[in-house]
Amino acid sequence: MTTLPKTARIVEVGARDGLQNEVNVSTEAKIRFINQLSQTGLTHIESGAFVSPKWVPQMADSHDVMTRIDRRPGVIYSALTPNQQGFEQALLAGANQVAIFTSASEGFSQRNINCSIADSHKRFEPVMALAEAHGIPVRGYLSCVADCPYDGPTAPSQVARVARELSELGCYEISLGDTIGTGTPGRIAAMLDQVGSAVPLHRLAVHFHDTWGQALANIYQALCMGVATIDSSTAGLGGCPYAKGASGNVATEDVLYLCQGLGIETGVDLPSVAEAGWAICRELGKQPTSKASLALQAKADHRHNR
Ligand code: HMG
Ligand code: MG
Repeated sequence: MTTLPKTARIVEVGARDGLQNEVNVSTEAKIRFINQLSQTGLTHIESGAFVSPKWVPQMADSHDVMTRIDRRPGVIYSALTPNQQGFEQALLAGANQVAIFTSASEGFSQRNINCSIADSHKRFEPVMALAEAHGIPVRGYLSCVADCPYDGPTAPSQVARVARELSELGCYEISLGDTIGTGTPGRIAAMLDQVGSAVPLHRLAVHFHDTWGQALANIYQALCMGVATIDSSTAGLGGCPYAKGASGNVATEDVLYLCQGLGIETGVDLPSVAEAGWAICRELGKQPTSKASLALQAKADHRHNR
């Protein structure tokens, strides 16, 4: 018999992972989106990325966004910081948590952050030292935990090795990214088995993109194995400009519906998240990809037309 966690923590990445992939989103729209997400019960909202504007121009307004949002007490507003320069900017913008990011595969590391995995750790050392000095917790992202768009399949032992290194650097949590969404539950289980022996399960999070429609199944697998922190993106927005073919993250609404059905408490209100998803999607001129959100909308339309 599987023992599922009683509670799960949702890390909302829509305003970063989601919007890094969308062009022409105004700063005001981003601020409205984060402010609306702040009213849903979410306690961790990744709100920007202090990366090179030449690499990801979509995140170039992160300072404006993070200094103009209405901060709700108790909510973490975090940002990606690839190096010391990024960390210093995040600090100026008032990020109360940051995330460093590397890859379990060399190919993606080179394409995404322009250095090897080993060199990325060297860049992280000053970030970790400054973060400690300022009392800022650091999360670590590890991409390509199933497959790499450049190198092919990633060995679980390699994921475990880099996860251990991020943990030893001082990351309080390692978020395991299936960046191109190719993983299936059996492979995710094998990966988590190995990573779980390098880093305690309560310090792991899963970050699944849904390219092949496996993200919810993979999350269920991770929950069954004791991982209780899930990254997701409202409306299913997302992708990485340096991972060709990567589609959106698993939708927050769908994760909430899954957790509700399993009796796992998240503290997040599904209809409020769905509303925030429709609002940002109107700005983007698209529909949410979240099945739960679309189903909620269809139910509301049906009631209205009766
Ligand atoms: P580089 O060119 O090797 O860096 O880029 P550099 O140190 O040689 O600096 C070159 C120039 O960039 C200089 O400017 C620096 O000032 C500037 P110049 O003198 O040419 O005018 N620069 C910066 N500017 C602003 N902020 C900074 C910064 N650092 C340097 N922090 C770098 C290295 C890491 C900066 C670059 O490759 C980069 O920005 N990459 C980010 C790519 C990215 O954001 N990808 C998406 C996020 S990761 C993701 O989506 C995956 C995830 O969701 C998990 C998953 O799904 O798997 C997290
Ligand atoms: Mg991602």
